[in-house]
Amino acid sequence: MHDFKFKRQELYCEDVKVADVAQAAGTPFYLYSYNTLVDHFTKIQRAFAKINPTICFAMKANDNLAVLKTLADQGAGFDIVSMGELRKALTIKADPQKIVFASVGKTEAEIVFALTTGILFFNVESVPELEEINRIAQKMGKVAPVALRINPDVEAATHNFITTGTLKNKFGIDLKSTHQLLKSRKKYPNILINGLHIHIGSQIVTSAPFIKAVKKVIGFIAALRAEGIGLEYLDIGGGLGIIYKDEKPQTAQNFADAVLPYLEQTGLKIVMEPGRFIVGNAGIFVTKVLYLKDNGFKKFLIVDGGMNDLIRPSLYNAYHEIVPVKKSRGKPVTVDVVGPICESGDFFGKERVLPALKKGDLLAVMSAGAYGYVMSSNYNVRCRVPEILVKGKEFAVTKERETYEDLMRGESIPEFLNIS
Ligand code: LLP
Repeated sequence: MHDFKFKRQELYCEDVKVADVAQAAGTPFYLYSYNTLVDHFTKIQRAFAKINPTICFAMKANDNLAVLKTLADQGAGFDIVSMGELRKALTIKADPQKIVFASVGKTEAEIVFALTTGILFFNVESVPELEEINRIAQKMGKVAPVALRINPDVEAATHNFITTGTLKNKFGIDLKSTHQLLKSRKKYPNILINGLHIHIGSQIVTSAPFIKAVKKVIGFIAALRAEGIGLEYLDIGGGLGIIYKDEKPQTAQNFADAVLPYLEQTGLKIVMEPGRFIVGNAGIFVTKVLYLKDNGFKKFLIVDGGMNDLIRPSLYNAYHEIVPVKKSRGKPVTVDVVGPICESGDFFGKERVLPALKKGDLLAVMSAGAYGYVMSSNYNVRCRVPEILVKGKEFAVTKERETYEDLMRGESIPEFLNIS
């Protein structure tokens, strides 16, 4: 379900006309639906109610403060990967006991900050990292709670760049080494290893790879238990896929029906880290047609948004549906929808059939709520666009469009260039 629908030929987000937002804020911009965020979050919550998991929204997917606050108010915790994300979570007064911290490269400053904050646990990805956290915790007179991220060596059918659970990837610790680590855990007096973590990839549309990974973990947990090694948490990561085009992803309920029996077998408290599932279809990117170009071979629709604003098509060849914000009966034409950036990879969609559009018409790039704004950049000295949240009839700019002053802040010409 999402709350971007056409009423009388006009695209609405909840009860707000998208064209009205464009009028007020200018283009391009990201637009998020409060109702959709809440709906997706509660779908997971309800589907897994039986085991009452801690649902830590993977804020790398969308770190807008208003989005985070919306989810925290529904009971969400956060899966973070950096000092910046932790600061944002604390800014909206997230409960530290619902924060888990992944990343293969945590710095000393980040570890100190997270220990001071008192997060639920670190998801640790290597032995050197465990040694480092132990050393820092010792210095601070603390015991660091840790879940070991295991690499279950399970292939998830998704894009190469976003599969993470095989030994070809940099993530997690292999099962044998994890076992060794747990056996020698007394070597780390300032660490409490109280959980295991898996995350096998992103945009996974079937439950089979999850089940395969969880089954491996169940066997492993049982073996550990037999050796007297008890744990408290199993963090099953994120990765639930959504519909971009014609995917038929499982619903939260189907997913829960399939994996719940296995999760229950673990006897552990469950943590989940969904990102895309919650926010992906809760956001769109709105851009305006600047020019129509026909080079005799191909037609291009040149818009004011670029790959610096939404890089998924360029980076992963990802498909995002593109729709005119106002439906028209114009004769359909096949076009490439491209941005103004000096790269051939700067496109939102290729060979799309759209009604004939003209300069000034608005287009919505759908399903852009996850890994959209967060992956944007200032490439070509372009200001990052605003993020706007709709709730019912209301909307508000939750992050302002950047200014050129923002872009040049901190830059200076060194003295030695000023010799005349
Ligand atoms: N937990 C961990 C440890 C992760 O690395 C990720 C995503 C998640 C949870 C959330 O996964 P999700 O539920 O959103 O699939 N930029 C790429 C996606 C990268 C995903 C990175 N890790 C894209 O635009 O498709």
